[in-house]
Amino acid sequence: MDRMDVVLPPAAIGILGGGQLGRMLALEARRSGYRVVVLTDEPPGSPAGQLAHVEINGSYTDAALLDRFLAEVEVVTAEFENIPDACLQAVAERRPLRPGRRAIFTTQHREREKLFLRDQGIACAPFRIVENEAQLQAAVEELGRPCVIKTAAFGYDGKGQCKVTAETDLTQAWRAFEGAHAVVEAWVPFVKEVSVVGARGMDGSMAVHGCVENEHADHILDVTIAPARVEPATADQALALWRAVAEGLDYVGTMAVEMFVTADGGVMVNEIAPRPHNSGHHSIESCETNQFHQQMRVICGLPLGEARLHTPAVMVNLLGDVWPTEDQAPDWSAVLEHPRAKLHLYGKECARRKRKMGHFTVLGSDVKQALREAREIQARLGRR
Ligand SMILES: Nc1ncnc2c1ncn2[C@@H]1O[C@H](COP(=O)(O)OP(=O)(O)O)[C@@H](O)[C@H]1O
Ligand SMILES: [Mg+2]
Repeated sequence: MDRMDVVLPPAAIGILGGGQLGRMLALEARRSGYRVVVLTDEPPGSPAGQLAHVEINGSYTDAALLDRFLAEVEVVTAEFENIPDACLQAVAERRPLRPGRRAIFTTQHREREKLFLRDQGIACAPFRIVENEAQLQAAVEELGRPCVIKTAAFGYDGKGQCKVTAETDLTQAWRAFEGAHAVVEAWVPFVKEVSVVGARGMDGSMAVHGCVENEHADHILDVTIAPARVEPATADQALALWRAVAEGLDYVGTMAVEMFVTADGGVMVNEIAPRPHNSGHHSIESCETNQFHQQMRVICGLPLGEARLHTPAVMVNLLGDVWPTEDQAPDWSAVLEHPRAKLHLYGKECARRKRKMGHFTVLGSDVKQALREAREIQARLGRR
């Protein structure tokens, strides 16, 4: 390890983005004595900004704000991928940016992400890139129905997606995508969704938190089960895909890869997230080194921590729907009274439906027990 690359406390870590992932990274960094500076286009008091020493609010491409931000920090990371490339470039010219610009640029856009996977020969669903209705018609013809249209840029939590079934009128479906590039993907009849979250260091070493299982509700992650209930050969394939993606991107930092498991035990990549991930939140309680601490270590040029899962865990997301009204907090006793459950809230004021407000994690002696108890807590919390 080159000592020149090492950033030690009390140096300041710069975080692009003001969301909960930045907040949890800020918590880890502060615990270890780093200063934290957040640049976000959210208003003051963002989830990450609340825990930063300095929060700078405004456009990611405002040169004066970027100057202020960069003057304060030794190293920079991004807590979400939709940062304008002009900002990534400006940052990378003046400070170490980890993960690097290329990894973020590739994965912030579905078209570039898919082409990267194809180039690397990494298994993913068959797809076509389309720019107009005629190309959409041809793509659906080739891939067959059902299939799914996904906007190339700025999609998340199922937003910017349209499933094409036997009944779908393509002229009408295309209207939502008009003027933009879209990816059309064959429908994958998966039996399970899994993900792998881990980190790759500056020296190329890698450590993962294992293969976990994800259940979605309305396209939003609902529950993560760690470890995944899959055959060892399936978990091994998932880990191998994660490593192939990390090496292909020459990745530095914490990264998540979402995958589909098919009936024959095959695994293919769905999406890459160049940052800590919702399906890695369980690691805060269940792993030797959690995904945020690992991110802190890697971006500061420190060696990777041991990432191993030491205790089975289930993480449940808390969406705004759990709040009785948008500004009235739920009765948390179901979580707080449980001896192996931990509550995490992201400091967001308005509990809009579908908004990720927090999560809780339940540890167990096995996943069956953890899942049963997590579901009991979830049922007691209810939803509006
Ligand atoms: N090709 C597909 N076949 C079957 N289900 C899919 C496919 N693509 C997406 N989905 C379902 O939709 C969810 C969200 O899609 P994803 O591409 O991960 O977008 P997002 O960025 O919204 O997470 C997936 O987790 C999966 O449940
Ligand atoms: Mg996804």
